[in-house]
Amino acid sequence: MLLKLGVALFIIGFCLVEARGWQKDGKQRRKHKFGNMTDDQVKGFKNSLRKTNVDRFVAALDRLADKNGTDIEPSANEKAAMKERIKHLRKHVRSPKIHEDGDDMTEVNEKAGVAESLYQGDMALDDSQVDAILGEFVDGPADARKKRQAFYNSRYPRNLWGNTFYYYFDPSLTDEAKAISQVAIAFWQNSTCVNFEENSTAPNRVRFFKGQGCYSYVGMIGGEQDLSLGSGCQYFRQAAHEIAHALGFFHEQSRYDRDTAITVNTENVKPESVGNYRETETRNNNYNMPYDYGSIMQYADTSFTANGGKTMISKVPVYQDNMGSQSVSFYDISMMNEHYQCKQKCTSGATCVNGGFRNSRNCNTCICPSGYGGATCSDRAPGCGATLTATSATQTLNITIGVRTSVDYPTFETCNYLIKAPASNKVEVVLRAIAGNVQCRAGCIYKGIEVKATNDHRYTGIRYCCSDDVGTTIVSEGNIVPVIAFNRYHQSNYTVTYRSVPSSTASTILAIQLPMSKPTL
Ligand SMILES: *[C@@H]1O[C@H](CO)[C@@H](O)[C@H](O)[C@H]1NC(C)=O
Ligand SMILES: *[C@@H]1O[C@H](CO)[C@@H](O)[C@H](O)[C@H]1NC(C)=O
Ligand SMILES: *[C@@H]1O[C@H](CO)[C@@H](O)[C@H](O)[C@H]1NC(C)=O
Ligand SMILES: *[C@@H]1O[C@H](CO)[C@@H](O)[C@H](O)[C@H]1NC(C)=O
Ligand SMILES: *[C@@H]1O[C@H](CO)[C@@H](O)[C@H](O)[C@H]1NC(C)=O
Ligand SMILES: *[C@@H]1O[C@H](CO)[C@@H](O)[C@H](O)[C@H]1NC(C)=O
Ligand SMILES: [Zn+2]
Repeated sequence: MLLKLGVALFIIGFCLVEARGWQKDGKQRRKHKFGNMTDDQVKGFKNSLRKTNVDRFVAALDRLADKNGTDIEPSANEKAAMKERIKHLRKHVRSPKIHEDGDDMTEVNEKAGVAESLYQGDMALDDSQVDAILGEFVDGPADARKKRQAFYNSRYPRNLWGNTFYYYFDPSLTDEAKAISQVAIAFWQNSTCVNFEENSTAPNRVRFFKGQGCYSYVGMIGGEQDLSLGSGCQYFRQAAHEIAHALGFFHEQSRYDRDTAITVNTENVKPESVGNYRETETRNNNYNMPYDYGSIMQYADTSFTANGGKTMISKVPVYQDNMGSQSVSFYDISMMNEHYQCKQKCTSGATCVNGGFRNSRNCNTCICPSGYGGATCSDRAPGCGATLTATSATQTLNITIGVRTSVDYPTFETCNYLIKAPASNKVEVVLRAIAGNVQCRAGCIYKGIEVKATNDHRYTGIRYCCSDDVGTTIVSEGNIVPVIAFNRYHQSNYTVTYRSVPSSTASTILAIQLPMSKPTL
């Protein structure tokens, strides 16, 4: 009897809240909040956000969604420039999905019904973050002047984990999601000075569980905070991305300087999702690192699409397919090391070259940009691959990677090549063939070949994974070009040709000038 009454009260309460959400300004835009989630799923979702006044959070997201997108809309000039870039993008035919549940967090979360009830589709915010980040949307226009900020929100650095990130696995988590979480945890632990310790009673801890979709709180909230890896999230990208949120990262496409790197193609964005493309904060700290399209925190280029069309257009067209990466980029690792002040732990040790930095877990070794290895990053990354000498004669490189019968392993295997031309020359690389179960996807999430043609080898190179990429020519900035083939699905074959060209040869347009000023606090 009591139980029944409780359920009835819950339902009435729920209806009241829903009604309020829908009646904003008499508009009824968000009828499908919580998608097609069952009442139990909604209850589970709300319970997982127990560090938050969920109704207040969701109401603020509602107001954010209701606000028209005129501030995100590109200017007429921007739009014209974007249209010009779109014309030159290759007409990729995307491969049929291997997994029906969606390729990226937003797609998974839209299907799961939670995308509109989380910040930018996959972040939970606690009450103080709701104030700091959604301040102008909380409790109506009166609060409009509350300043949005994030990395340096009012509680920084309290929302860092310090030396140890405590976590445990809820029994609801599938074996697959648990296994991939362990891989992603091992990755972040190995790449930073943060220790990850399984402990379900530590005062501050993350509970990995199977909720609706993939989401996490941002940074250490205090007490127990949830990280959901539901159906569709049992992949490395999703796990590594959500853990990065829990460590304190926001999205790459919401960096304050993102307008220098991408144009949001608002015409293709669902009207109720345009607010997700509002920059997170005007004062986030990017540690003087450039915008990296290959960041694990960068959404795929069709996120929140209304029509399947691209929602983000790169200002450097060669990087369009880098968005939505399945691997953590070197700059992600470097930034996390800055965020947790790991680099300071080595006051002496190895002299790292090629952009590497001292590994706080062993200061006599370095953490190297992809493609490089050895204690000081002076070598080619070990294993499959070769160091090749480019001459003025065209040479052919055939790469076969992976095992034909293997299906969908959790992380990439790689073959690392270093192509070296004489010191004052450049390298020309032409993609001649791509074969073997081609998977043409945003972010090249199953397989691809990456060419690092900028002088900065820390930067994620140009990635190719589509048949119509064949024929593309890249001319590097410098005389050394790392080429990395990566694969996690069946077998892949790539043929590239390479040769040394005079330094007077025009380099492919690879970079844009990004403002990288540090915020003043
Ligand atoms: C959008 O909102 C701004 C103010 O926030 C207003 O000036 C503008 O007229 C609005 N545009 C549309 C199309 O509603
Ligand atoms: C919700 O709807 C989507 C299609 O819009 C479907 O793929 C998904 O399976 C549905 N989820 C549930 C829990 O019914
Ligand atoms: C887990 O954390 C609690 C509280 O800090 C501590 O007492 C306990 O020893 C830890 N358990 C393990 C296995 O480390
Ligand atoms: C751990 O990090 C080091 C240094 O970056 C790297 O060489 C090694 O391959 C990593 N190991 C694993 C298991 O990720
Ligand atoms: C490389 O592969 C191509 C087919 O893509 C083939 O025609 C060629 O003979 C191969 N070259 C070498 C050196 O193996
Ligand atoms: C890929 O290369 C391997 C090794 O040369 C070869 O056995 C296989 O047939 C090739 N696959 C395709 C699809 O070209
Ligand atoms: Zn995210």
